[in-house]
Amino acid sequence: MEALTTLKSLIVVLSLYFNPVTPYEDNVTTTNLPRDIAEDAALTTVGLIFKYGFPVEKYNVTTQDGYVLEVHRIPKPGKQPVLLQHGFLDSSATFVLMGPDKGLAYILSQQGYDVWLGNSRGNRYSRKHVNISADDERFWKFSWHEMGVYDLPAVIDFILRKSDFPKLHYIGHSQGTTSFFVMCSQRPNYNSKILLMQAFAPVVYFFNVRTPFKTLLKNSLDTMSFASSTLGLYELLPNLKRLSNFSQTACWEHVQTHKYCSNLLFILAGYNEPQMNMTMLPVVYGHIPAGASIMQLIHYGQILKSGVFQQYDYGRLANFLRYRTFEPPRYNLSRVTAPVILHYADNDYLSAPEDVETLAKQLPGIVSKRMVPMRRFNHIDFIWGINSKELLYSHVISNMKKIELGR
Ligand SMILES: *[C@@H]1O[C@H](CO)[C@@H](O)[C@H](O)[C@H]1NC(C)=O
Ligand SMILES: *[C@@H]1O[C@H](CO)[C@@H](O)[C@H](O)[C@H]1NC(C)=O
Ligand SMILES: *[C@@H]1O[C@H](CO)[C@@H](O)[C@H](O)[C@H]1NC(C)=O
Ligand SMILES: *[C@@H]1O[C@H](CO)[C@@H](O)[C@H](O)[C@H]1NC(C)=O
Ligand SMILES: *[C@@H]1O[C@H](CO)[C@@H](O)[C@H](O)[C@H]1NC(C)=O
Ligand SMILES: *[C@@H]1O[C@H](CO)[C@@H](O)[C@H](O)[C@H]1NC(C)=O
Repeated sequence: MEALTTLKSLIVVLSLYFNPVTPYEDNVTTTNLPRDIAEDAALTTVGLIFKYGFPVEKYNVTTQDGYVLEVHRIPKPGKQPVLLQHGFLDSSATFVLMGPDKGLAYILSQQGYDVWLGNSRGNRYSRKHVNISADDERFWKFSWHEMGVYDLPAVIDFILRKSDFPKLHYIGHSQGTTSFFVMCSQRPNYNSKILLMQAFAPVVYFFNVRTPFKTLLKNSLDTMSFASSTLGLYELLPNLKRLSNFSQTACWEHVQTHKYCSNLLFILAGYNEPQMNMTMLPVVYGHIPAGASIMQLIHYGQILKSGVFQQYDYGRLANFLRYRTFEPPRYNLSRVTAPVILHYADNDYLSAPEDVETLAKQLPGIVSKRMVPMRRFNHIDFIWGINSKELLYSHVISNMKKIELGR
């Protein structure tokens, strides 16, 4: 029964996504939505921060391999910088879209931090390269490996230079944790630039994940590789203007279809209705999906299948040409010496407590791990949960202050 609902939600949302002219559009116009909701769905991260009365800046940071990343900041010059890094198919907006009372970026700013928000290559804010157009397939030849090896180091160096601090706080959600572990294992000198890393819903191992798409993902690896190389399907779910229209209509809580919008999130992240503010669904869907490369998904699928946290598998021959070994090299987690605190949840479909346990044992810099004390807390509650401030952020901030005082 649940599987059927899931499938239906998926189909409806995907069809709305690709063909947003729906019968519902006749009856639900944007005027039915409160103006604030419609506006927040359509604004950019910078627009949102400005609207809610916080100072905001944006910068272009160019990586060593030529990608131009848009970095956002709620500046507090002279204060300790903290970098927030979003997850898969997400963007910097994720830390502000729930508004000034709930958004982690605002809360950290109010606590006196110089807040920086990263945008991974390929998302709506970082679709630029010094030489290659995003319409060119070569642009999309990256996974979260490159985010760890190029994006994060470039952004971290930029922030430290700009703020004149020797170290920063890092908070990553989901893929923002994966790329962090890649960085610290592949470029270990970055460990010393991290004051404290706090991982929300860390994603490295998939032995116990509960996503219903586990088998599907495992079995469709070849199809996805084929689709990307043969059909030219490189970019995954970009943020489209027309999607804003769709979100304003289909996900409004007083429209029947809104159930599909929430169900899709729950099936991906874990069911926890009480923590999701349904009023905000149109805003959420105005900002996700924000775009990614299909290789990011394939790389995750490879880890899920092999059970080994290792570099992208291009096939034996191509691997040999690239890595000089037939199998992709493993990420050496014993090089992650930066202090790390892992925050995880019982009902997170994408990051199982047992797998977090496995990860924790391999991190030399582990300080502690903490399960969010709510049984049904899920993958997205870490960033959008109604009670995340009390359940999670207050602990995150006290961890930050402790380490700053050297305790
Ligand atoms: C629009 O709303 C009316 C009244 O609620 C309903 O009868 C009609 O079927 C709706 N039209 C569409 C296309 O959903
Ligand atoms: C960032 O790059 C874009 C396009 O390349 C440019 O239009 C914009 O002015 C740049 N912004 C800054 C702050 O340099
Ligand atoms: C961009 O193109 C120039 C000129 O061909 C080349 O020198 C440079 O290395 C390229 N940069 C990157 C990052 O690919
Ligand atoms: C929403 O749809 C209307 C009508 O189809 C169109 O005129 C408008 O430009 C769309 N808005 C966006 C943001 O795409
Ligand atoms: C849900 O979002 C609406 C609109 O931003 C807000 O007014 C309301 O207080 C939120 N509800 C909860 C429980 O946080
Ligand atoms: C992993 O890194 C550690 C610490 O640098 C090193 O001692 C060990 O030999 C490495 N393991 C492999 C398999 O490279």
